[in-house]
Amino acid sequence: MALTRFTIVAAVLSAWADQSTAISSACAPRFTWEDAQLTDSIASSNASLFGFDSNSTTAKISPKCKVFPGDAAWPSQLVWNLFNVTLGGALIKTVPLAAPCYNNWPQHDAAQCQYVTNNWADPHLHVSDPTSAQFPLYQGRTCMPTDNPNDNCTLGGYASYSVAVTKVSQIQLALNLARNTNIRLVVRNTGHDFADKSIGAGALSVWTHKLKDIQFISNYGCKGFQGPAFKIGSGVETEDLYRAAEQNSVTVVGGECRTVGIAGGYIAGGGHSPMSSLVGMGADQVLSMDVVLPSGRYVTVSEDSYPDLFWALRGGGGSTYGVVTSVTVRAYPKIPVTTMTFGFATSSNVTADTFWAGIGKYMSYFDTFTAAGAYGYFLTVGIGPGQFFFQFMPMWGNNMTKPQFTTLVTPFLNDLASLGIAVTPNITEYPSFYSAYTGTFPPEQVGNTNSHAASRLFPKENFQGTKLNQTLAAVRYAIEGGGVLIGYNIRSAPNPTVNQANSVNPAWRKTTGFFILGASWAANATDAEIAQVSETMTTDWMAKWRAVSPGAGSYMSEGDINEPNFQQSFYGDYYPKLLALKKLYDPTGLFYAPTAVGSEDWYITDQEAWIPTQNGRLCRK
Ligand SMILES: Cc1cc2nc3c(=O)[nH]c(=O)nc-3n(C[C@H](O)[C@H](O)[C@H](O)COP(=O)(O)OP(=O)(O)OC[C@H]3O[C@@H](n4cnc5c(N)ncnc54)[C@H](O)[C@@H]3O)c2cc1C
Ligand SMILES: *[C@@H]1O[C@H](CO)[C@@H](O)[C@H](O)[C@H]1NC(C)=O
Ligand SMILES: *[C@@H]1O[C@H](CO)[C@@H](O)[C@H](O)[C@H]1NC(C)=O
Ligand SMILES: *[C@@H]1O[C@H](CO)[C@@H](O)[C@H](O)[C@H]1NC(C)=O
Ligand SMILES: *[C@@H]1O[C@H](CO)[C@@H](O)[C@H](O)[C@H]1NC(C)=O
Ligand SMILES: *[C@@H]1O[C@H](CO)[C@@H](O)[C@H](O)[C@H]1NC(C)=O
Ligand SMILES: *[C@@H]1O[C@H](CO)[C@@H](O)[C@H](O)[C@H]1NC(C)=O
Ligand SMILES: *[C@@H]1O[C@H](CO)[C@@H](O)[C@H](O)[C@H]1NC(C)=O
Ligand SMILES: *[C@@H]1O[C@H](CO)[C@@H](O)[C@H](O)[C@H]1NC(C)=O
Ligand SMILES: *[C@@H]1O[C@H](CO)[C@@H](O)[C@H](O)[C@H]1NC(C)=O
Repeated sequence: MALTRFTIVAAVLSAWADQSTAISSACAPRFTWEDAQLTDSIASSNASLFGFDSNSTTAKISPKCKVFPGDAAWPSQLVWNLFNVTLGGALIKTVPLAAPCYNNWPQHDAAQCQYVTNNWADPHLHVSDPTSAQFPLYQGRTCMPTDNPNDNCTLGGYASYSVAVTKVSQIQLALNLARNTNIRLVVRNTGHDFADKSIGAGALSVWTHKLKDIQFISNYGCKGFQGPAFKIGSGVETEDLYRAAEQNSVTVVGGECRTVGIAGGYIAGGGHSPMSSLVGMGADQVLSMDVVLPSGRYVTVSEDSYPDLFWALRGGGGSTYGVVTSVTVRAYPKIPVTTMTFGFATSSNVTADTFWAGIGKYMSYFDTFTAAGAYGYFLTVGIGPGQFFFQFMPMWGNNMTKPQFTTLVTPFLNDLASLGIAVTPNITEYPSFYSAYTGTFPPEQVGNTNSHAASRLFPKENFQGTKLNQTLAAVRYAIEGGGVLIGYNIRSAPNPTVNQANSVNPAWRKTTGFFILGASWAANATDAEIAQVSETMTTDWMAKWRAVSPGAGSYMSEGDINEPNFQQSFYGDYYPKLLALKKLYDPTGLFYAPTAVGSEDWYITDQEAWIPTQNGRLCRK
């Protein structure tokens, strides 16, 4: 009976919730689904569940821990049903992607298990799932693909419920419900985050993947900026936006991975790009954003609307100040791009010391190359005792013809030749960013749980004078220890045509070398073995990188979940201001993610040292 009544009430509410209370932003109109907002009258019709934040609810939220499944205070089935109907049926009870491999799930299905197993390394498989993490180490590895159906699969660190959002009212309902019932909230877009910041046991997940609109604005013509721009929903992935830019003969700033979400974690974290050496960071390109705040209210954030949040949402990290529903970013005219690929390795002609001298030569050009607007993406790895391998994947010359690029790199190639390192560079000119991107960037592989990363943003001083040798020695130490270097020769170019007064880690503004260090272990490693490798990386290898670059930082979106003093490393001097804004806009602590601003006030129960999974309860310290 009760269920029926709730269902009818909720169906009516659901219809109301779709009514528009549109406020178009001045320069780029809201998408239709952004006009479907939660009204006060609907929210207050069951305020204990769906009411917006007010000072009275703030006072009410005092429990030490978030409510967890099985607790008496966990919302009843009736509440979940009411919520689902109010959402218009968008609630998903989450199921791990690999559940079909296990007898202990009703989804068990050998053919589907085979499909998931075969495609596990393809990011697209995980992106289109409401909960899956692309690197499930901190999910607890509780439901990996297996050929033993008698193993146990559990939800582990995955959220309990996910809302497949297609309109703003659903985000508002989810935020209000999570806050009012004191359950954990997570925001998930593509699940790419290295530290699994998009998952959490016992959480309600806001899944933004379906917000796929891309609108090209040929002449934005608003305030400081006159020119081409895109307004995109927060589910838009890099490859979607790159394709749209190509179709409209413009260039946009995005990352290197095809499936990362532009308006989600990428811009929130700062966002580095092959274009960064020419025009700055991804976050610098933002003209306006639309955001559901922790209060449940929906606002436009720009230079003159919530300017404090406009600063914080461009660099201060995802899942902290609200859920971004769309962003408007500027675009640039079409440019030619010239790329270069080659590799070299130790051999009978190239000793280990010569190899590292070659790497040092490359580093000595970091400032020259980035000042010319170029970018380099490269791999350096050990391939046996005293043996090493280097590969460009590729080096990238923005807005350069082949002759211009060749002139830039010839002194470097001559230096390698005089060291006796023979290389055969493939230098290719492309007519556009997109053609260069599809022509040279390898597709990514995900899904593994046998590696873990840390990173450092090295300023240009590290690659000059006597510091260059010290930097080289610190890098070599980590690679000799078994680490893998994914290197970027990149700068955040100063760009007076965009607003760079944002919270991007100030270390980015000095960087010419962004180095990701990967540590790995056997696929069957025990927790103790994983913990040991992770500890070695953080406290030994990375300690040397930190020592040689005092006061620099690390990139939060490709960083170490165990980073010591993460506040300084990931946010630099901006941390106190970011924290004050966090407390102002999210006084109840609705948003949490590991290493996010304010996360030091919380802990997750049942964590093991060096393997901080999201499988326990979220509690206040
Ligand atoms: C293979 C690979 C290559 C990469 N290459 C680059 C690169 O070239 N340049 C670069 O800068 N980064 C790169 N990254 C890092 C990438 O930017 C981050 O992992 C980023 O956080 C992914 O964002 P997402 O929204 O796609 O993923 P998610 O994991 O879903 O989200 C990441 C974080 O953002 C939050 N979030 C997501 N959407 C929203 C939203 N709408 N509102 C508020 N919070 C939100 C999530 O809660 C989470 O905390 C790469 C990562 C991988 C795995
Ligand atoms: C609101 O929801 C709560 C929890 O299910 C329920 O007890 C209450 O009766 C509802 N109120 C209204 C007005 O529907
Ligand atoms: C909440 O309380 C603060 C301080 O007591 C006050 O300044 C603010 O106006 C109140 N907000 C609302 C929405 O009542
Ligand atoms: C929510 O409702 C939809 C549509 O009725 C249904 O398909 C889905 O299974 C429901 N979700 C949950 C968690 O019950
Ligand atoms: C699965 O879990 C059950 C109950 O916790 C336990 O009895 C069983 O041994 C587990 N099986 C495996 C293969 O771990
Ligand atoms: C080493 O140098 C010799 C002579 O220059 C050359 O013939 C040979 O191919 C080189 N070997 C490698 C592995 O580069
Ligand atoms: C590319 O270079 C041309 C001149 O060669 C310049 O006019 C143009 O502004 C550059 N484009 C960008 C995006 O920097
Ligand atoms: C150089 O690279 C381009 C683009 O990847 C490729 O098409 C071409 O075959 C390469 N040329 C040589 C000689 O390897
Ligand atoms: C760096 O090391 C190399 C080889 O070890 C040495 O030849 C060179 O002089 C050193 N450079 C500086 C600036 O110390
Ligand atoms: C992992 O597998 C290797 C061989 O494949 C074996 O030697 C090792 O003992 C295994 N380790 C564990 C913890 O099972």
